[in-house]
Amino acid sequence: MKKVLRVLGFLILAIVLLIAAGAAFIHFRGVPSYEPREVQVNIPTDSTSLARGEHLATLICADCHRGEGNKLSGKQMVDVPDFFGYVHSGNITRDKKYGAGRYTDGELIHFLRTGIKRDGGYSYVMTGFPHLSDEDLFSIVAYLRSDAPQLDPVSKPSPPCRPTFFTKFLANVVFKPFPYPEKTILAPPITDKVAYGRYLVNGGVDCYACHSASFTTNNPLEPEKSAGYLAGGNILIDPTDLREITSANLTPHPVHGIGKWTEAEFAEAVRYGKRRGGGSLSAAMPKFTVMTDEEISAIYAFLKTVPATDHAVDRVK
Ligand code: HEC
Ligand code: HEC
Repeated sequence: MKKVLRVLGFLILAIVLLIAAGAAFIHFRGVPSYEPREVQVNIPTDSTSLARGEHLATLICADCHRGEGNKLSGKQMVDVPDFFGYVHSGNITRDKKYGAGRYTDGELIHFLRTGIKRDGGYSYVMTGFPHLSDEDLFSIVAYLRSDAPQLDPVSKPSPPCRPTFFTKFLANVVFKPFPYPEKTILAPPITDKVAYGRYLVNGGVDCYACHSASFTTNNPLEPEKSAGYLAGGNILIDPTDLREITSANLTPHPVHGIGKWTEAEFAEAVRYGKRRGGGSLSAAMPKFTVMTDEEISAIYAFLKTVPATDHAVDRVK
């Protein structure tokens, strides 16, 4: 009996030591680095692409990157959950030293697809856009190179993010950079409402990322496989008063989802943050003010097709 206990004691000690060694490894290694790459791309310069890029960047990038004076110079993101640690978005102005201007087109496209920065660092909050069509992604870069006033050079470095142990753990074990796509990625035509709505929800504006169960269980490569896909429950922080806000169930469930919402009510919520039945939604829900009627209609049509999920989300009213 004594011998068994002694063996057991050694075993437990060995396990504890292994866990401690693993934790120390993750702590000191931090977020792993990867091989940066510069891919071959031709960024368009025509006015249609620039306008398209401006529209998409306003919908997708501006909310996280808008800093002082309306410039896209980056900001501290107080609205991401605490477990990410201190998060500051990047300076994406044309500045050649500190902004997106220091990236070549090929480096920028590689980063935006994979999440691997030009210095090899892995961007674990903004993990990249694996589903945006080539045309859309290239137009965004065309816009970033344009002389739009929001992109006028701001010569100021963005303070580096400071990951918590939990984020380092996730970045070592769960999160991985996305592979660079081997083929051209095409968007469905906007006339195919359901397909286009799905494209926006999963691949561009990423409604699913906030509206599924948790950032830690999202599946960015196959969004529909995320835990609690679009059924709400993810905890966000309201940037104005730092309250915790649970995201809403966007499935067509008549009680817990948006099954009874009209398209007009939906549009008011998405564009202006209006709550159905009066009042305002928390600022944890971005206002997609520039979203066109066609885009809203496509998203609404797609949301009608996802399975109605009986997930009651307790939200601040
Ligand atoms: C959810 C918020 C969020 C969204 C949406 C977002 N970003 Fe970012 N972005 C960040 C954060 C946070 C960082 C800092 C990452 C880091 O340093 O690890 C960053 C960094 C960057 C950088 C700088 C990388 C470097 O090496 O310093 C570029 C360029 C960039 N983003 C471009 C974009 C573009 C273009 C879009 C839209 C297509 C976009 N971002 C959308 C949060 C976001
Ligand atoms: C950054 C995270 C985030 C993103 C991205 C986001 N949402 Fe939200 N959304 C929220 C949160 C949080 C709430 C709950 C706000 C509240 O309760 O006041 C919400 C609420 C809503 C509501 C109100 C639902 C209700 O029951 O009151 C609708 C509709 C909605 N979002 C649609 C969308 C659509 C469509 C997209 C993509 C175009 C989107 N959201 C993207 C965080 C987000």
